[in-house]
Amino acid sequence: MTDLFPEARISRDALEALQLQRLKVTLAHAYANQAPYRAKCEAAGVHPSDLKSLADLQRFPFTGKSDLRDNYPYGMLAVPREQCVRVHASSGTTGRPTVVGYTAEDIATWSELMARSIWAGGGRPGDVVHVAYGYGLFTGGLGAHYGAERLGCTAVPMSGGNTEKQVQLIAEFGARIVMVTPSYMLALADEFERQGIDVRKTALRIGIHGAEPWTESMRQEIEQRTGIDAVDIYGISEVMGPGVGQEFRDSKDGLTIWEDHFLPEIIDPDTGQPAKEGAIGELVFTSLSKRALPVVRYRTRDLTRLLPGTITSMRRMARITGRSDDMLIVRGVNLFPSQVEEQILREPALSPHYVLELWREGPLDSLKIVVEARETLGEDRRAAVAASLSARVKTMCGVTAGVEIAAAGAVERSIGKAKRVIDRRPK
Ligand code: DLL
Repeated sequence: MTDLFPEARISRDALEALQLQRLKVTLAHAYANQAPYRAKCEAAGVHPSDLKSLADLQRFPFTGKSDLRDNYPYGMLAVPREQCVRVHASSGTTGRPTVVGYTAEDIATWSELMARSIWAGGGRPGDVVHVAYGYGLFTGGLGAHYGAERLGCTAVPMSGGNTEKQVQLIAEFGARIVMVTPSYMLALADEFERQGIDVRKTALRIGIHGAEPWTESMRQEIEQRTGIDAVDIYGISEVMGPGVGQEFRDSKDGLTIWEDHFLPEIIDPDTGQPAKEGAIGELVFTSLSKRALPVVRYRTRDLTRLLPGTITSMRRMARITGRSDDMLIVRGVNLFPSQVEEQILREPALSPHYVLELWREGPLDSLKIVVEARETLGEDRRAAVAASLSARVKTMCGVTAGVEIAAAGAVERSIGKAKRVIDRRPK
């Protein structure tokens, strides 16, 4: 391990010294070569030379998704486009995609951090790693792929979709690790059952799941059904892609942020001010080593809190509860799909395949939870389970929701990030 990941032993003091040194380089690079960011600094009256300590970073302006959109496609690059060996893009729900670029050195760093992530997740050189994240403009597939190769594993570049074949190849190629969104992992678990293959009798031991919010109950569901260890991986294209943070298989206690490359902050999303230590707020990252697209105080919109390091001196972050833009406001009550998921999984008769439907009746919002039963339920039982879930959601989340219990297989399966909300309310 120590050869592969010597940074695991860095002391907190040495880490912070390294962060400060890299932060100065990053700020100077962004200021000199990223015109839109320099303009923001000038407007705010700050200059990279004002940064004397890590805390001084708070004086610098934020970067947001709109900066990338407004300077589409290449205006935020801090190196000539010709020096980028790759671009990725994330589509988002509205407008132009956000484009991100990488120099050869950036790709090497990313591969290193993904190798480190897979290693922390329990992967070892020689493992077969089945990559079911999508390949293409999405960073999941290629990010995982390069990391698996860098660690010395055998990468199987399956990408998303073709569920039947996924299962066949995982079993026959002897994958020890599967890298896939948690929602698609559940679809794979269903398919293993359908094909009559007991996952426990295959080589599969570890699932590295991320790219979408998931809950502790979802982890238990995956682990109980398949016998694997399911660990969390976090990433976001604008900051790099997968591998910004990774949960260790040995502790399963949240995501260790690779703080030698990314400096996290938590802010109050409404005021932009730093959140109280340990409080939940919006996650903000400053990249510390990227060349093509440095990001200074990038607002991720993801909500979480920072925790002290356990296995390493690097801080952890708690499971992400959701994105501030995923938050639903239902009759004035704030609600994240993950809160509903938590309640669904408390009902043994229900599966984690669900979707939330919203519409407006007159002035009022209506919410319906459409969720699959694990097996066919009689009419009375169905009504009882629906009433019980509705009561739980009312008590625990504070919203009134109708519940429709659908037959197994009725809710559309994702092959990547799950779509949990259908919002038909007028904008
Ligand atoms: O989803 C990168 C990735 C690929 C991460 C594969 C992990 C595995 P984007 O498409 O830019 O990048 O989406 C980033 O996905 O801001 C979060 O809202 C969400 N997200 C990513 N990882 C997690 C996670 C990739 N572990 C957005 N838990 C982020 C919850 C996550 N949400």
